[in-house]
Amino acid sequence: MSKSIITLILMMCCLGCQNKASKVFTEETIQIIPKPKELMLNSGSFIFNDKTQLYLPDKRYFRTTDPLRARFKTTANWDLKVATELPPSNVIRLTENKNLAEEAYTLNVNSNDISIEANSYSGFLYGLETLRQLLPSEIERQDEVKDMVWEIPAVQIHDAPRFKWRGLMLDVSRHFFDKDYIKQTIDRLAYLKMNTLHLHLVDDQGWRIEIKRYPKLTEIGAYRVDQEDKPWNGRPTQPVDGAKMYGGFFTQEEIKEIVAYAESRGITVVPEIEMPAHVTSAIASYPEFSCLEQPVTVPSGGLWPITDIYCAGKDSTFEFLENILTEVMDLFPSKYIHVGGDEATKTNWKACVHCQKRMKTEGLQNVEELQSYFIKRMERFISSKGRILIGWDEILEGGLAPGATVMSWRGVKGGLEASAEGHDVVMSPGSHCYFDHYQGPMDTEPKAWGGFTPISKVYEFDPVVDSMTEDQARHVLGGQANLWAEYIPTTAQSEYMIYPRIAALSETLWSPKANRSWDEFSSRLTTLFKRYEYQDINYAKSVYTVTADTKVNAATNDLTVSLDTEFPNTDIRYVLNDNEMVSSAEPYSAPIEIHATTTIKASRYVDNKPVGKVFEKTFNYHKGVGKKVTYNTMYSDSYKGRGANNMVNIIRGTKNFHDGQWQAWIGNDMDLIIDLEQPTEVSEVKIGAMENQGPDIYFPTRVEVLLSTDGKSFKTAGIIDRPFEVNPVIVLKDFTLQFNKQMATHVQVKAISLKKSPGGGGAWLFVDEITIN
Ligand code: ACM
Ligand code: ZN
Repeated sequence: MSKSIITLILMMCCLGCQNKASKVFTEETIQIIPKPKELMLNSGSFIFNDKTQLYLPDKRYFRTTDPLRARFKTTANWDLKVATELPPSNVIRLTENKNLAEEAYTLNVNSNDISIEANSYSGFLYGLETLRQLLPSEIERQDEVKDMVWEIPAVQIHDAPRFKWRGLMLDVSRHFFDKDYIKQTIDRLAYLKMNTLHLHLVDDQGWRIEIKRYPKLTEIGAYRVDQEDKPWNGRPTQPVDGAKMYGGFFTQEEIKEIVAYAESRGITVVPEIEMPAHVTSAIASYPEFSCLEQPVTVPSGGLWPITDIYCAGKDSTFEFLENILTEVMDLFPSKYIHVGGDEATKTNWKACVHCQKRMKTEGLQNVEELQSYFIKRMERFISSKGRILIGWDEILEGGLAPGATVMSWRGVKGGLEASAEGHDVVMSPGSHCYFDHYQGPMDTEPKAWGGFTPISKVYEFDPVVDSMTEDQARHVLGGQANLWAEYIPTTAQSEYMIYPRIAALSETLWSPKANRSWDEFSSRLTTLFKRYEYQDINYAKSVYTVTADTKVNAATNDLTVSLDTEFPNTDIRYVLNDNEMVSSAEPYSAPIEIHATTTIKASRYVDNKPVGKVFEKTFNYHKGVGKKVTYNTMYSDSYKGRGANNMVNIIRGTKNFHDGQWQAWIGNDMDLIIDLEQPTEVSEVKIGAMENQGPDIYFPTRVEVLLSTDGKSFKTAGIIDRPFEVNPVIVLKDFTLQFNKQMATHVQVKAISLKKSPGGGGAWLFVDEITIN
């Protein structure tokens, strides 16, 4: 071949290369979640083609390549080969490195090949998942992508997890989710380097695992009367004959399939078999293991308090549970076996002859110690099989079993206590880890259990509490999100609650704390959204929901409305009153001053167009806005609302009592005075209040408005009495007092609290906005 022809061929090749390798990579374009511990961007890139091969040191790592090969098969229609001999180039080479920590990996990409080192299966899996996130987002598509250059930047990554327990709990009892959804969830967890799936297989409303020795557990316990059309807490327990049933369960074969699939994705499935409470489904099947031995049906919805629990006095109960756990341990190789232990109301134990006898023979002082006896006995059984018992933090009450690990859910207190006693803990506080909570303003979100845990709050989670000693911190295995499923009837809703919050959790559990930044994370989240779209995941876009807050300028009494989204730097635009949301809407850059009743409509804009939900709110101006409020009785430290101006800041509290807009009093009346500063004509005062009897929030039994023209002597202008009534739903109500027009300089408002709830505890009084016209 002549030199000129070779030159020509080389030139053609280079032209080809230039056409393809067109990308410029910067650190900002690398958007991996969770963020790797160390990443160095080098110059150059690697381009995949249909000849790219994988090379493994051992065939037991073969399945670590499943996710990446499956992606290339779908999007590029390539079957990437797994080579038995090391190819000279164009290869992803996996090499064992026993110096690396468990689950750690290094990833080196250069223009010839890719090298991943790890000391375990999971390390290789995570190296390959990182590689997947380096690829263009289109790698996640569900169809073939034509003319795509599958190019990734040359990088050097050293990565390792901060915590070894990175979990998600799925409640498959309150609503049942089948094995395909569980496997899909496993894939999505592995994508974020999560390694634990906790399956809540037992609860009052359904027993979800086949137990060969006790077939009635699923014949009876896995089904309930279908009342899915009614609200969870408004479903009466009905006789079962002939009724349409809701339910389902995993056969043992299905469990094996789930466990094997999870193993291939580096995930341990931790089974939870609840005891001694949350087991109405089991008692409906085998009433002989309860104290009362009465027939019960599987409840279709909410059940509270839970009094029908396993009898702790009968040895047959323990035999029953040990037989169940034996089958469970045969199916789940997990080192940890979860036994629940939460929320047992022990009234039946106090009356049961068997339980009383047990307490006497064991020298137990109270029913808490009887629960402790129960769990300790199960712990002896579980540890005799070489496993570790884990339970909710109630297992601390009455004394913790010696080898038990605690899952702290009622805040971090249980975790602090157990770790101080030298026990391992998994932190899962409701405040940051309960994914059944709302993630955006309640009035813009699908129905959820309650609470408020937006993704930015999840991102603040740290399983190691500041006050922990180093020794306590060493006992923190990690953290976990819990998705209780009372309000999760569909897989679409399950996805909505999990994603993207699980991405924030994955980073808090994997990445070094020092690397964390909400602003920077949120930019990576945008890329993840695109990938979730390609993966057809019904992820929540609540981070884009526009919210409003108001501020009163103390000097001028002027009121300003600020608009925001959870995401930083969102392009928000707005219009006022009757104007329509159009492309010419005003870009929001500073709080909007209002001096009269005003409607604000606002939206996130992308490419000069509104996208997503339009925010619309009317701010009802009134004579009290921004005026000074003096409290004769002080509101609770737990519910301060927006502080001094809360009652006259126009923004109203929503049905979510955690929304930061409510001021509340416990066991005490509200009594306050609003200073109108000058003689003002007044003919109406409205007092906004909430009732939510579940958490002991009650309407006032009386409201009274008094007026004054000197701030000293007050005269009653009106009174409304409203005696207590049982009310199962959350209600917002304005108590409106109208009277003849009068001049006043001061308005005093008293709201009389129920003070004591019917259950005997303190009654809360929640008030927001006192509107003066
Ligand atoms: C729980 O949320 N009852 C553990
Ligand atoms: Zn009993």
